[in-house]
Amino acid sequence: MKTIEIKNTIYVSSFDELDNLDKELLIEARKACDLSHSPYSHFKVGCAIRMQNEKVVFGANQENAAYPVCLCAEGVALSNASMQYPTIPIQTMAITVKTPSKSANSPIAPCGVCRQSISEYENRFQAPIRIILQGETGEVYILSSIKEILPLSFGAADLKEI
Ligand code: THU
Repeated sequence: MKTIEIKNTIYVSSFDELDNLDKELLIEARKACDLSHSPYSHFKVGCAIRMQNEKVVFGANQENAAYPVCLCAEGVALSNASMQYPTIPIQTMAITVKTPSKSANSPIAPCGVCRQSISEYENRFQAPIRIILQGETGEVYILSSIKEILPLSFGAADLKEI
């Protein structure tokens, strides 16, 4: 049977090895965790986005007693980016978490919905978005594009013109 091989590259770093801009963005994402409204999961996700004009915007997860209404940190941050800088592509996103038990010692990866939203943003501006992921401690993962963790993605190009 014919197969298609999908190759993904994730760079693994430590916080100390990051350059200063990436360190700052991850620190901003950690601060954004404090803006999380997460009384149900107590899982505070923070996201900081550096736009290509060097401005930084934030997002944190916003939960709801009606659970499906919850907004992920990445989606909130992307909405902020789009509203504040509608013509500017995104350079880098940093995503991290704070938990009550401080037990997240490996990177937390965006959920499927967030991967699709980030992919749309990349396609919209024809510009890959670097993504930096870290738990509360431990290794840092660096992706050069969301496509590294969303291969065979669906996008505008798949829709037939009407
Ligand atoms: N969450 C995010 O903010 N981003 C993700 O990519 C995964 C999950 C939030 C949603 C919810 O408030 C909490 O984490 C637990 O699922």
